[in-house]
Amino acid sequence: MRFTLGLDISTTATKALLLADSGEVIGVASAPHRLHAPRPLWSEQDPDEWWSACQAAIARLLTDTGVSASEITGIGLSGQMHGLVLLSAAGEVLRPAILWNDQRASDECRLIRDTFGLERLVAITGNDAFPGFSAPKLLWVREHEPEVYARIRQVLLPKDYIRWKLSGEFATDRAGAGGTLLLDLRTRDWSARILEGLDIPRAWLPDTHEGSEVTSSVSAASAEATGLQEGTPIVGGGGDQAAQAVGVGAVSPDVYALTVGTSGVVFAPCSHPITDPSGCAHAFPHAVAGQWHVMGVMLSAAGSLQWFRDTVAPDASFDELVGEAADVPPGAHGLTFLPYLSGERTPHADPLARASFVGLTLSHSRGHMTRAVLEGVAFGLKDNLRLLAEAGLPAPAQIRASGGALKSRVWGQLLADVLGVALVTVDATEGAALGAGMLAGVGVGVWRDIETAAGACVRTGPLIKPDARTGQSYAAACERFRKLYPAISAVR
Ligand code: XUL
Repeated sequence: MRFTLGLDISTTATKALLLADSGEVIGVASAPHRLHAPRPLWSEQDPDEWWSACQAAIARLLTDTGVSASEITGIGLSGQMHGLVLLSAAGEVLRPAILWNDQRASDECRLIRDTFGLERLVAITGNDAFPGFSAPKLLWVREHEPEVYARIRQVLLPKDYIRWKLSGEFATDRAGAGGTLLLDLRTRDWSARILEGLDIPRAWLPDTHEGSEVTSSVSAASAEATGLQEGTPIVGGGGDQAAQAVGVGAVSPDVYALTVGTSGVVFAPCSHPITDPSGCAHAFPHAVAGQWHVMGVMLSAAGSLQWFRDTVAPDASFDELVGEAADVPPGAHGLTFLPYLSGERTPHADPLARASFVGLTLSHSRGHMTRAVLEGVAFGLKDNLRLLAEAGLPAPAQIRASGGALKSRVWGQLLADVLGVALVTVDATEGAALGAGMLAGVGVGVWRDIETAAGACVRTGPLIKPDARTGQSYAAACERFRKLYPAISAVR
């Protein structure tokens, strides 16, 4: 038996997954990362902590599974997108990495829009400027930390920092590179026009590669540090959302991926670049060569229920809370929850958006409040599906659904009813690491192509069919939800 190793450098932990050539996941191990928020709107991590976590997760995985490093034929990398890692000429990390959920760079977004004009920016990159994307954050460093900026010689994404630690080489994947706002969406390579317009040297950026292309191999030094075998090939891999899409089998234009974890993501593959003219929906290359994707990202999905539980009912289990919500009819007797606890990305590009419960009365119970949270998240996802349809994406033949929310039968049914689509559930707890392992398998010839890999590795679960009558009963609540964001954002 041979194996590939998928590594996911996520926000919470580094996850290592072993995928056998048979398509079975043999084991998963993880080691946590700390998150630092030294000031309001800031979100940072220490790249060396990712590397320590990566070593720990690989060691644990090899011990737990009893697999020897010589049986691993390839490595795929995935990780949190948009993170900004800055290295000096000597390879020192110049400052903590600035993460995807950092909101400090709003002024720099305006500067980028003013430099190119929104229409041209979207025409080249496929996207508007969001504070979490890498380019605005790099300009923030230029403005606020000139002494750091002066020493930059390499700009990397989180998983590419790990690639460098593993191989001693600089390279990136094209799906992740799209999230920097420096990529030309059509050519799938760095945009000379954007780099010139922002005065960012091309030499600071690694070469770009397709997800299953071999970029480098494990160096002698990292073989020593990780227990991996020197020379093991490493493929491009993908940003976590593209890798997650691969891990659930969303690898052709008619199959969308819906991920309802801390954040909520609607991901639509396409065979040519499609953009939302407003730049609000994200348009990036897919981790699958020859495909692109359009994506809507809500920042607080299952994270809203987590917050609600921790804050209002710390002693209740999720099942208990969701059980109470199941006894409340659709619409939660007029109570609405807006899930903008971390600001919002799409369809409301607003870092300062705030969450609310609206319409509380004496008759509302905890069950009503939980129901409103579940519905608010579903309505936010429906807004994102609508955004993709408005951008010209064809309706999906199938939606592959994964994430914590889908573990609950009640929430899964509520999502299907509100969205009005059948959801094919996928057991993909570590979907991004699995996708990375599958891309490695294609790169080293285990599978002919990514469709074949998906056929071998993706395990689908129950189908959740929408109930049209129940779906109808959400219409008024959904309308109320839509009207509330503009009304509430007007009273800041
Ligand atoms: C995608 C995004 C998040 C991060 C963290 O645009 O910001 O999915 O990649 O997981």
